[in-house]
Amino acid sequence: MEPREVDLDPRQVAMEIDTGGRPDGSLAITRRLFINKAILAGTAAGVASVGWFPVINTLDLAFGQQAAFKFAWLSDTHLYPKDVNTRFVDKTVRAVKEIKAMSPPADFLIFGGDLAQLGDPVEIDLGADILKELTIKKHFIPGEHDWYLDMGAKWERMFGKTPWTFDHNGVRFIGLNTVGFAPDYWSAKKMSPKERMGHMATLDGSVAGPWAGVGDEQRQWLQQTVSGWAKDRPLVVFTHTPLYEYYPPWNFWTRDWREVNEILKPFSNVTNIHGHTHQVLYNELGSMRSIGMLATSWPWPYAPQGVPPLTKPMIRADPGDHFDGVGYSKLTAGAAGRIENEYVMWGRKEVFAESVVDSGTADNVNQILHPRIADRMWPY
Ligand SMILES: [Fe+2]
Ligand SMILES: [Fe+2]
Repeated sequence: MEPREVDLDPRQVAMEIDTGGRPDGSLAITRRLFINKAILAGTAAGVASVGWFPVINTLDLAFGQQAAFKFAWLSDTHLYPKDVNTRFVDKTVRAVKEIKAMSPPADFLIFGGDLAQLGDPVEIDLGADILKELTIKKHFIPGEHDWYLDMGAKWERMFGKTPWTFDHNGVRFIGLNTVGFAPDYWSAKKMSPKERMGHMATLDGSVAGPWAGVGDEQRQWLQQTVSGWAKDRPLVVFTHTPLYEYYPPWNFWTRDWREVNEILKPFSNVTNIHGHTHQVLYNELGSMRSIGMLATSWPWPYAPQGVPPLTKPMIRADPGDHFDGVGYSKLTAGAAGRIENEYVMWGRKEVFAESVVDSGTADNVNQILHPRIADRMWPY
């Protein structure tokens, strides 16, 4: 099926959440939907009292001179070898083309993991080839689908090691690896690399052991990396899995999120941007906001329990249209260090569902689920 050429105007969604904060004055407000806590919670009453109109505060004064800039996020392309399936290839190519055409251009791209479907070197090479089209700086973090065939060997040869950090226009960006630090549960079970990858690639896979976590060593690195950073300066942390506990039975979490949060808690402006969940998602944990990104491959349904209450659910995708319910993100770092997210969902004028039945969040509400045994296996 060809991409739909109708409704190409992306939904522009600004997540300007912080009470008393304000969007960058240079951003056009028209056509942008600003969402604050009250709207996300589904109530209109709080809108007036939680305004985002200009407030001069120390944060603005400190970062007023910083120029606003854009960057792009692409993740969860889940590429198969071309002779198996070109559907996901087509969508990745389209996203790359559109990111290349961004005006003003993105300063850089973050690739957020799950480039490949089964970690096959053919898939990773294919992804690297498609991404070559983009000549802006690219930063990569891996997903579990990239990792568990050869434990990240090919990935690291192609895209470098994680974690990493860089500063750009007054914002400190950090890329964590939340898939590659799990203890080895598979050798004792005598799994072949393909078996291990197969288990890790399933939504609720835990047979080869739990895998979503930051781990002790990387947490120490994170602690050092933020230690010299002023507490009111903006921090953006990229992870493949959400940096909180959304839904462990589907691995929609990072198991040591509490410890990570302890490290980030002293900072007043932290944004976590993550892939893996393939859906519009929003959560706040203290002063840290987490924004879930769309996949280009397919949308996951919402978990049957515990969708973060601040999430305004996305529309239920048309299963007959593989360009529906998927896409990528354009992000703007405003002059005050605020991150504004714009979901680009192909073929949709409205990203958000008008009612619960349009979103899939009400499915299976009565289902009773139990934690998996493997979730108790990784002490951290
Ligand atoms: Fe994924
Ligand atoms: Fe993933």
